Amino acid sequence: MSPLVLITGASSGIGQALALQYVRQGYRLALVARRTDVIRSWLSPYEISADSYQIYNGDVSDTSSMATVAQDCLARQGAPDVVIANAGISIGVDSSRRDDLDVMARILATNVVGVAATFGPFINAMTARGSGTLVGMASVAGIRGLPGHGGYCASKAAVISYCESLRGELRPTGVKVVTICPGYIATPLTQNNSYSMPFLMQPEAFAKHAFKAIQAQVSYRVIPWQMGIVAKLLRLLPNGLFDKAFAGRPRKPRAAGSD
Ligand SMILES: NC(=O)c1ccc[n+]([C@@H]2O[C@H](COP(=O)([O-])OP(=O)(O)OC[C@H]3O[C@@H](n4cnc5c(N)ncnc54)[C@H](OP(=O)(O)O)[C@@H]3O)[C@@H](O)[C@H]2O)c1
Repeated sequence: MSPLVLITGASSGIGQALALQYVRQGYRLALVARRTDVIRSWLSPYEISADSYQIYNGDVSDTSSMATVAQDCLARQGAPDVVIANAGISIGVDSSRRDDLDVMARILATNVVGVAATFGPFINAMTARGSGTLVGMASVAGIRGLPGHGGYCASKAAVISYCESLRGELRPTGVKVVTICPGYIATPLTQNNSYSMPFLMQPEAFAKHAFKAIQAQVSYRVIPWQMGIVAKLLRLLPNGLFDKAFAGRPRKPRAAGSD
């Protein structure tokens, strides 16, 4: 039986590109998103055989929904070899505005709790088998707190720390935890950014590099590599210099409908 990968956020961008990369490498797919019709529509031209994939309707910010997805997946396709918690949202937050605090809660529920809700229901099956890879999609934005991007940066910093904790917890079991930090990838998530996006990468190229890193079970990888250097420099930059260099950076667009 060919190996199985479960990918959340498979209706768009990085998740879609990862799904195509994995199917080309002989994997069966378990594809998760709220917009399952969108998954069906991008998948249909590829003529992927019906027994190679299943589509699941799941909301990663709802732990019960993800428990149901996992139960269905275990029953229909078995325990995945790789689980990629990729679903995420990026919205600007102005902390002085009451409505934006609800947006912040939504970002954390999706980007942070959503990762744990995706991994959690598979951990017992994977540890019982003694193998498997859990992949958290973090971001270079999780390395330092960029002005104008507080909710998202906080959420991705949490993903990096959470995956690091889990990696240590699961080390004796044979289950690996891989943290991937994308730089700027050309997807719907970045298309309205008003600031420059150095080393912008196409999702297909990103997926090839991510696949290799996940297969190698590296603990942590920044993609593209140029952003890896930027990420290392960002870490080293003293607080005073960082604050000066990034002060006044434009805010990521706030939620639609907010004034
Ligand atoms: N693009 C970049 O430059 C970049 C950089 C660093 C990190 N990342 C991270 O990479 C991941 C994928 O981003 P992308 O660029 O591919 O964005 P995207 O094209 O906007 O795709 C986001 C995906 O997440 C899913 N999603 C959002 N909320 C969800 C929820 N509550 N439940 C289930 N699925 C949900 C969406 O599916 P539905 O709406 O159909 O549910 C969609 O498939 C995110 O975690 C993002 O933070 C991206």
